[in-house]
Amino acid sequence: MKNTKRCCILLSSLWLSMMLLLTGCKGTERETEKGSIRIGVSLYRGDDTFINNIRGELEKCAKTYEQENSMKINLDIQDAKGSQNTQNDQVDRFISLGCDVLCINLVDRTAASVVIDKAMEAQIPVVFFNREPVEEDMNRWDQLYYVEAVAKESAVLQGNIVVKQYQEHPESLDLNGDGVVSYVLLEGESSHQDSLIRTEWSVQTLKDGGVPIEKITGGIANWERSQASALMEQWLEKYPGMIELIICNNDDMALGAIDAMERAGISGISVVGIDGTTPGLEAVENGKLLGTVSCDKERYAGAIFTMAVSRAVGEEIPPEIELDEGKYYYCPQQIVIRNR
Ligand code: GAL
Repeated sequence: MKNTKRCCILLSSLWLSMMLLLTGCKGTERETEKGSIRIGVSLYRGDDTFINNIRGELEKCAKTYEQENSMKINLDIQDAKGSQNTQNDQVDRFISLGCDVLCINLVDRTAASVVIDKAMEAQIPVVFFNREPVEEDMNRWDQLYYVEAVAKESAVLQGNIVVKQYQEHPESLDLNGDGVVSYVLLEGESSHQDSLIRTEWSVQTLKDGGVPIEKITGGIANWERSQASALMEQWLEKYPGMIELIICNNDDMALGAIDAMERAGISGISVVGIDGTTPGLEAVENGKLLGTVSCDKERYAGAIFTMAVSRAVGEEIPPEIELDEGKYYYCPQQIVIRNR
């Protein structure tokens, strides 16, 4: 929370100077009158665990900001429930309600142009997050931003968890001692930029790290615990005693795989995830998950919030939020394994 607080304090002083200087920028005049900022947030699916963690942090940021500044934050968070049409309608509503800035977790990352058209017409900046608009769309306007945890970095860190485990305890991965670690892979949505990249780089990192691997099978479980659990149940039946490692593109699918193993009364197979969600971190702590890769969610949400508020009041984004190409913020990540 420290960084967020620091950003909030900095914003507060910038805000006060702006009030004093009466710079006359659009956002400032509007906010001076209202004494409030309205932020429209649309989530691709409100039941996604990682996105829910980010939502919780955004709500904390808004509360902290209100407490530290004489400014009311109207954080209007809507669930698009997996429908791009619904999300487009939510954007229309945000605009008609006079939102000062939009934070959009796109349903369909290739459909950003509709949202961008609406935002540009209404002159409302947009902070996209987690589901990356294509570069061509991001280049359409200088009031478009994007926040994410870099997929390749998550995957390399995930691979490193397994490499370290293999170096220290090869027998815990090569369960049948045949000199090869046989794995299955659970992937996120096929249309999501993170799925392909994470899959490719997790496997590559194992190879680069000298883990002798062999793929048994893989499948798409769309980030979902229940879908992963169903797939895993089939694989456990089809490949009895063969699976030694389960590589998952996210924590929820890892937890689904663990659910299936628990139902089948199977233990000893290593599982790795990505996200560091609240249940994911618990599973690491109680030894069910070998490890996960956690992005700093306070920082992730803090960046979205600070960028949104800065733009809402017509202020530059503070230098603490280090932007790539003036619009991309990449949240730091770290490995989480059990404290032994
Ligand atoms: C990924 C995350 C998944 C899911 C997805 C939604 O980055 O790892 O758990 O939240 O985003 O877009």
